Amino acid sequence: MNKLKKTLMGIRFMGLPNALRTARSSLQRDRLEQRHPQAAPGPLRQPGPLLSAEPLPQGAYFTFDEGFDLEIQFLAPHIVRLTWTPGALPVPYSLANPDGSLAPAAPPSNPTPPADELNRGPSPAAALLTLAMRTEGGGAQTLASAALRLTLLPNGTLRLATPSGHPLRTEHPPSRRATSWHHSASFPFPSACFGLGERTAPLNLLPGAYRLWNTDPGGSYGPGADPLYLNIPLYYTRTPAGGCLVFYENSHEATFTFTRSETSATFRDGALRYYLITGDPAEALAAYTALTGRPPLPPRWALGFHQSRWGYKTEDEIRAIAAGFRERGLPLHAIHLDIDYMDGYRVFSVDPARFPGLPHLSADLAAQGIHLVTILDPGVKIDPAYDVYTSGLGENAFCTLPSGEPARALVWPGWCVFPDFTRPATRFWWGEFYPRLLDAGVAGIWHDMNEPAAFQAWGDLTLPRPTRHDFDGRGGAHGEAHNLYGLLMARAGFEALRRHRPDRRPWLLTRSGWAGLQRYAWSWTGDSESTWPALKMTIATALNLGFSGIPYTGPDIGGFSGSPDAELFTRWFQMAAFMPFFRNHAARGTPAREPWSFGEPTLSICRDFLKLRERLLPYFYTLAWQATQTGAPLVRPLFWGEPGNAELWEVDDAFLLGDALLVAPVLQPQATSRSIHLPAGAWYNFWDDSVMEAAPVVESRLTLERIPVLVRAGTVLPTREGRAETLHVYAPLRGSAESFWFADEGEGYGETRQDRFRVTREGSTLRVEWETEGEYPLPEEVVVRLHGFEARAAWADGEPVGLSGSSIQTKPFRELRFEEEG
Ligand code: GLC
Repeated sequence: MNKLKKTLMGIRFMGLPNALRTARSSLQRDRLEQRHPQAAPGPLRQPGPLLSAEPLPQGAYFTFDEGFDLEIQFLAPHIVRLTWTPGALPVPYSLANPDGSLAPAAPPSNPTPPADELNRGPSPAAALLTLAMRTEGGGAQTLASAALRLTLLPNGTLRLATPSGHPLRTEHPPSRRATSWHHSASFPFPSACFGLGERTAPLNLLPGAYRLWNTDPGGSYGPGADPLYLNIPLYYTRTPAGGCLVFYENSHEATFTFTRSETSATFRDGALRYYLITGDPAEALAAYTALTGRPPLPPRWALGFHQSRWGYKTEDEIRAIAAGFRERGLPLHAIHLDIDYMDGYRVFSVDPARFPGLPHLSADLAAQGIHLVTILDPGVKIDPAYDVYTSGLGENAFCTLPSGEPARALVWPGWCVFPDFTRPATRFWWGEFYPRLLDAGVAGIWHDMNEPAAFQAWGDLTLPRPTRHDFDGRGGAHGEAHNLYGLLMARAGFEALRRHRPDRRPWLLTRSGWAGLQRYAWSWTGDSESTWPALKMTIATALNLGFSGIPYTGPDIGGFSGSPDAELFTRWFQMAAFMPFFRNHAARGTPAREPWSFGEPTLSICRDFLKLRERLLPYFYTLAWQATQTGAPLVRPLFWGEPGNAELWEVDDAFLLGDALLVAPVLQPQATSRSIHLPAGAWYNFWDDSVMEAAPVVESRLTLERIPVLVRAGTVLPTREGRAETLHVYAPLRGSAESFWFADEGEGYGETRQDRFRVTREGSTLRVEWETEGEYPLPEEVVVRLHGFEARAAWADGEPVGLSGSSIQTKPFRELRFEEEG
């Protein structure tokens, strides 16, 4: 988008009075930043020769000349923490346990994990048992665990290798200029690189240069925009010898550069603390989320469809939208209220004229199964007659300038002040306002503009850098707090929801965040443009977010800022039906975007995909439960199960939804066919049960009504068809496979049930074994539908059962046996 168009869009979104004030705001910020300059660059410094090495219980402490120290701590055989100083240590906001220990603090909604291979979290005790340290020739020090070998050369070079000595990466001695760090590593060719949070780049981030500074791109973005709202200094590299995840626990502004042979990271300040985790993607993510926390189980409704629009202005309009869905037979689980429900954009207020009866509205919607979600921005309007502002002043709740005055910036309500979420008392104070919404029946909260975003005429669209923060008493500047702002706002919100509504699971949506966000909130991909390239980009964005530990995300269907035609909207809708967060949202002033706005056939296609999503909810919910156990994202790249297959590293026009489904959205206008890369194994076409096997690429013919969806052979796919729980058994071509099903009330913290299926095909027999664990009751009957197996007879626990076509209806069983036709 050209600059003029973007400026006009900015003015349209922020309103003329705010736009006119931005120049003053940016001038004030510039003056302040001149009075409080950043550290001058200074000379380049590097560790001098190694002076001493001191063993620690789980690692070692090394002192180098020139004032550099390195601490190495093994947290598990395949997780090691390295800390180069000088520089202030981070306040451990990203970690599940402040002391850095790995046992994940069981989120209250987590069911008891079954003792099986799903739970591959590391065991800290094992690290203690197996760690060995020795000094080798030339003064090199080696620390080895059962899973990795680290060799430190006397000049500060570090080599990471597998236990058998295959090199994974070589780190060069870090260097420092004033307070900043530069850290680079080389790895064996060829490589691929994933992660860094929310990106607009292709799935494989290599080659590329990326800035990590949470940023509102200002109303619209497309492929190549960098940075965005949610940056995470984590990447996973893949080489032929194996995988390695690197997470820098440093929230200062950073730049990452990836070339074919080297990665480098530059941080503006702080200690250079990072974690190296080895293993395949599933193992690495399990370890990373053991460190930074697993996502709690969401309420089931959140996995359904959400309708939203910036521009729904009145209660009547919301009721009309709900009726529009109901009358057209379109399933709907949530309606979002954007900023227009507030009184003059004052957070925690409700406009009395336009929303006179929020409790009635939410109750009426709840009776139809629709949950109300309201937006909250962090900016608090400066208004002496507004109690959130005056009480915040009294509590010293706001971020301050070095002068002690609250820092001010412009957002929707005009001049605002900003809660300092790095201050525990402020997090609590903020959370005490949530009952104003919760008591009105609001089911979920949507945090926006929390980079924090501010309107500026130039420069970064945020607070001035000299802004001060509390950092749980330790003190610090905005340069360190900025990237943490959305994470800590989410923490304040999550803790408030737990405190004020302890019987229900919190549901929060956030635009910004940092490492560890998965413990508190879902994210969405923000204000993307309404174009075909933006539709395609969304897949890589979601996959890299998943690789960064954020399993729940999704796009504004149709893109936020523009006007998709019926075909683009349809294709976006079809793709989003398989994303964890499924929401239709658009900017103020754009043409209507409800599923019926485009007429037919769009309406019928949307209805089909809304109904399909309903049917698939038991599967989505099972994936959500698996994420609580392993940290595995719901949508995954095609190479997830075979990370050594370099052919799949670049594929970002399709994704896996869990283990069972492969989704290949249509990403071109008027496309009549598309090619699909097939991961190993056999796959069924979801729509017609035809089988594909052993072809690296297949061609699929397209119609507007559908997008290609494949099911892995051997899957038991749990669905709900009307009132019946249905198990779709996709027969393996040979051998056996396992699947899971998780069930509970969908809300609260009651009993749960975990079911495990094993499907085996031997000659003309197909066997389905079902093991169940947990107290949540089994359904009285289930329907079992066979795919890829023509059965002539069936037995449930030895008793014959009647077949109706490819289906049977039966009580829960331990073993189901089918014999093939002919
Ligand atoms: C931001 C959000 C967008 C929202 C708008 C108004 O641009 O990203 O989703 O509609 O603010 O609140």
